Amino acid sequence: MLAGLVEALAGDGGRLSLLSRHASQHPGGFDCDYHDAEGFGRALAAASARNGPVDLAVAWFHTLKIAAPRMLAEQVSGRMFQVLGSGTADPAHPHRLAAAAAVADGLADCQLRQVVLGFRIVNDRSRWLTNDEISAGVLDAIRTDRPTSIIGQVEPWSARP
Ligand SMILES: NC(=O)c1ccc[n+]([C@@H]2O[C@H](COP(=O)([O-])OP(=O)(O)OC[C@H]3O[C@@H](n4cnc5c(N)ncnc54)[C@H](OP(=O)(O)O)[C@@H]3O)[C@@H](O)[C@H]2O)c1
Repeated sequence: MLAGLVEALAGDGGRLSLLSRHASQHPGGFDCDYHDAEGFGRALAAASARNGPVDLAVAWFHTLKIAAPRMLAEQVSGRMFQVLGSGTADPAHPHRLAAAAAVADGLADCQLRQVVLGFRIVNDRSRWLTNDEISAGVLDAIRTDRPTSIIGQVEPWSARP
């Protein structure tokens, strides 16, 4: 879902590292499974060795209850954009955003930003975001640099698809 964002960032001419299970199919890619903390650490170290310190990170993890999000935050000297599912905005769980932000607790060099994936209502019909909308929304969040950005909408919560 972030492929469009990767293309846009690559076009900016900076040094880009991609970390995922099949990332080495792409330039700047380092294969790793974020459930495997040792392997994730090796991929992070290899990325830093090739590209230097991380001044901008965009992170999507299916769960934050693993070591990898904190390990990434510890490597960031700049901004880290944490992409979060719409469940983070569920009013029945008002502490989820703050809980997610804890990955950067106490890390003076890591400036955390949060990007919540919402939904869209078009012609009275509610639907989830497309991959292009997600990539464009994260790019916009990077450019506008708000502490928290919502792509689409999360209110009213009862209107989600
Ligand atoms: N709110 C909305 O409108 C909306 C819309 C779309 C998606 N979403 C949510 O966004 C999430 C992601 O969607 P998606 O379809 O793009 O998911 P996905 O394909 O499962 O994963 C996204 C990326 O994460 C990487 N990845 C997955 N598991 C990994 C692992 N264990 N270690 C390292 N990298 C891993 C994948 O690359 P590799 O295969 O190379 O590992 C892929 O590039 C979903 O949970 C979905 O519910 C929300």
